[in-house]
Amino acid sequence: MRFRLKSNDHTVSAPIPVTESIDYLIKIVQQLSATHDLPGVMKLVCHSACTLTGCRRAAFLLLGGESCHCATDQSVPVLCRRMCSSIDTLVGELVLKERQPILISNMENDSRIPSKLSKNTFLKSLAMLPIRPQDPIGIIGCYWTEPHSPTREQMRVLQALADTAAISIDNIRYRQDIAKKARELEKAMDGTLLAIARIVEQKDPYTSGHQQRVSRLAYDIAREMGWKEERCEVLRRAALVHDIGKIGIPGDLLTKPSQLTPLEKELIQTHAEIGYQIVKDISFFVPLAEIIRQHHERLDGSGYPRGLKSDEMLPEAKVLAVADVFEAMTSHRPYRPALSPSIAFDELLKNRGTCYDSLAVDTLFSMITEKKYQIPE
Ligand SMILES: [Fe+2]
Repeated sequence: MRFRLKSNDHTVSAPIPVTESIDYLIKIVQQLSATHDLPGVMKLVCHSACTLTGCRRAAFLLLGGESCHCATDQSVPVLCRRMCSSIDTLVGELVLKERQPILISNMENDSRIPSKLSKNTFLKSLAMLPIRPQDPIGIIGCYWTEPHSPTREQMRVLQALADTAAISIDNIRYRQDIAKKARELEKAMDGTLLAIARIVEQKDPYTSGHQQRVSRLAYDIAREMGWKEERCEVLRRAALVHDIGKIGIPGDLLTKPSQLTPLEKELIQTHAEIGYQIVKDISFFVPLAEIIRQHHERLDGSGYPRGLKSDEMLPEAKVLAVADVFEAMTSHRPYRPALSPSIAFDELLKNRGTCYDSLAVDTLFSMITEKKYQIPE
């Protein structure tokens, strides 16, 4: 049998009266429902078991641990702690096998406890019961330093405590499971986004890495502006695929080494709307779709595809626009070499507040000039 054990020693001289134990139990049920971590549940249950029964020591043994640990309370001598652990394991196995409580009112006279164990512990009696008898997930043990038998009523209340603890532990495990699955889903989503970003780059190799760099830059600007992590993450993901609509543009137009004609420019500009149309019906893209659609809009309405004005634009799109323009200007293009960051800033500062969000521009400027920010490569 493998246990994970958490136990506490308590100096409770007498149990609370039976008439008060139901009220006490109700209070503990409320506290358990607000406890969202395993150690917290174990500690609360041990303390409550001592209060309800007046035992000297309570142990919470959870199945599924790597080994059987004993209490680390320094007031208990090392030898006693080792003996307790052996008794926990020995009696615990019986409890799990029979799926019902076991009471040992005097360990020294009980054939189930080897004398080498009972003689070497200061504990003289115990009560152990399964946590959820029909499908046990562990055991609660109560120990006294003198021969003792808890009352039938105390055992019933203790079993109610154990069963409530089972519900709390189930809930904690479900929550941990859901959180783990959400992390896995997010990881899969990031992998999918990266794959999409690479597909776009296959179509337009001159912008290789552009979306990744814009994504990093936009995320860092948003963080610096004090946005919450969750919001920064949405922006980071939208930026990673913001040019997905280029899939719908002829490749020779995207890689044309000379200046574009007005008609060709118009055709390329459709990529923002195409991007939106591609992703708008995929559930995990829904928050990203509108940001993608707006990444070429400008505050004064001079952008595309819809000529939105500042108050109609998403803040995420405003930050993305600044990151996109800065990255595009400082990168090599088939029709011009990479421009220096200072030239890119001249463009952003010249149109700060008219085309580009002032706070996003100022934040990027201070990150690079004052905070030695490393531009993503
Ligand atoms: Fe774009």
